[in-house]
Amino acid sequence: MYQRREITTQERLQQEQYCQRVRALIAHRPHYALVDTYGCQQNESDSEILRGWLVQCGYELTGSEEKADLIAVNTCAVREHAEKRVLGNVGALAHNKAKNPELLVCVGGCMTQQETMRERIRRSYRVVDLVFGPHELWQFPQLLLETMERRGRRGAKSRLIAAAPSEGVVAEGLPRQRDNQVKAWLSIMNGCDNFCSYCIVPYVRGRERSRRPEDVLAEARELIRLGYKDITLLGQNVNSYGKGLEEDTDFPALLAALDAIPGDYVLRFMTSHPKDATEKLFRVMAESEHCAHHIHLPLQSGSDRILRQMNRRYDRAGYLEKVAAARAAMPDLVLTTDIIVGFPGETEADFADTLSLVEQVGYDAMFTFIYSPRTGTPAAAMPDPVSRAEKQVWFDRLVQTANRISAEKHAAYVGRTVRVLVDGATGQEPYDLSSRTKGGRLVHLAGDPALVGQFLDVKITDSTTWALYGQIE
Ligand code: 5AD
Ligand code: SF4
Repeated sequence: MYQRREITTQERLQQEQYCQRVRALIAHRPHYALVDTYGCQQNESDSEILRGWLVQCGYELTGSEEKADLIAVNTCAVREHAEKRVLGNVGALAHNKAKNPELLVCVGGCMTQQETMRERIRRSYRVVDLVFGPHELWQFPQLLLETMERRGRRGAKSRLIAAAPSEGVVAEGLPRQRDNQVKAWLSIMNGCDNFCSYCIVPYVRGRERSRRPEDVLAEARELIRLGYKDITLLGQNVNSYGKGLEEDTDFPALLAALDAIPGDYVLRFMTSHPKDATEKLFRVMAESEHCAHHIHLPLQSGSDRILRQMNRRYDRAGYLEKVAAARAAMPDLVLTTDIIVGFPGETEADFADTLSLVEQVGYDAMFTFIYSPRTGTPAAAMPDPVSRAEKQVWFDRLVQTANRISAEKHAAYVGRTVRVLVDGATGQEPYDLSSRTKGGRLVHLAGDPALVGQFLDVKITDSTTWALYGQIE
């Protein structure tokens, strides 16, 4: 049974004192820090906290590796591909360190929470000064200070390999340096208890734990007061929000309470597990003023046999029922999904089931992945006779289907007028503004950068597989 552990105010204030001590150590000249992020939105959100701490520690943020005195890499463990990229890029930092021996290299995030990976970094990536896990983000200043104090010592004592095993904590009030003025992440929970058989997340992100509703609401009110227009609630499985809290609450109740905050803004959320997506949720979404009519509902596979092996706890018919209920509540629903191709033991017939379900549902966008074995997960021990080349053929067929459907969905927007939020200036003529529909579709526009942060009605004039093009009315 997970014992909820909340970081106390005193523990947090202690970290602020560590910030002062780091500040004193680097006060003799300006110091620059760069944070490089891999993986999901949760990681993007964690990187904002990392930047928040670094600023409190006296660093200025930079995008330049050459200029940086500290480089922090926030890693992802969900697939091998991401891990290889991280290791390649971290290894290459040896060149930077050769030029600037004072450079501090810190590696955090999900990869470091795996013991074999920590050992690999310890042995083969001597360039790394500090390894810290996602559960230690709240005490980054302390770890950074200790790393600084260890420098100059000999051998193993010269660096700090932390990232101790942990079930996770709940930490409120950490500083945060948000990188966008229109869109904001709002983490409502952390960890995952689902244990899908292919997934490393429950092992690295710890047990599922929700923030208290009053803390989430207070942060949302503050974001809206500061002028943020697009708020994305984050959690590995938002639909099971509230489990383990004293309050009797759930995700639809949280969403309704957030929606009641007055203002001109859009509420989004990621990610939903189909088994916990309820009619109550769809009703709250449909009746809300601010909630985007968009659900990201990862399917993973359309084959009942594979879904069972994946430990997903729904079947094809159950999934389709949820989709039908969501669409009945919200006829304008935008639906997106994740799919894994080539799960161990998947056959041509299983793959055909996935393709047919994809056709039947008609997703607005799909994120498709080739199965990547993750050490320590049940699926990694299952026989996997299908070759990588065969999986690639399936994958390509799925991507083609996904692209065709997205292009069709996008083409249906042409000629319509839709409301969008302008969320960025791209500086690329002629479509120098980027914007999103309430359902989250990307719309390129031509217009004044001063429009960033405004809701506008635009006429859709053109479309591709990936995006829409519009004219301001
Ligand atoms: N291999 C391939 N894809 C994976 N995902 C999670 N674990 C794996 C894995 N081992 C995908 C799932 C999930 C998304 C975030 O990443 O589709 O929804
Ligand atoms: Fe990657 Fe999962 Fe960690 Fe996000 S939570 S960074 S997807 S391993």
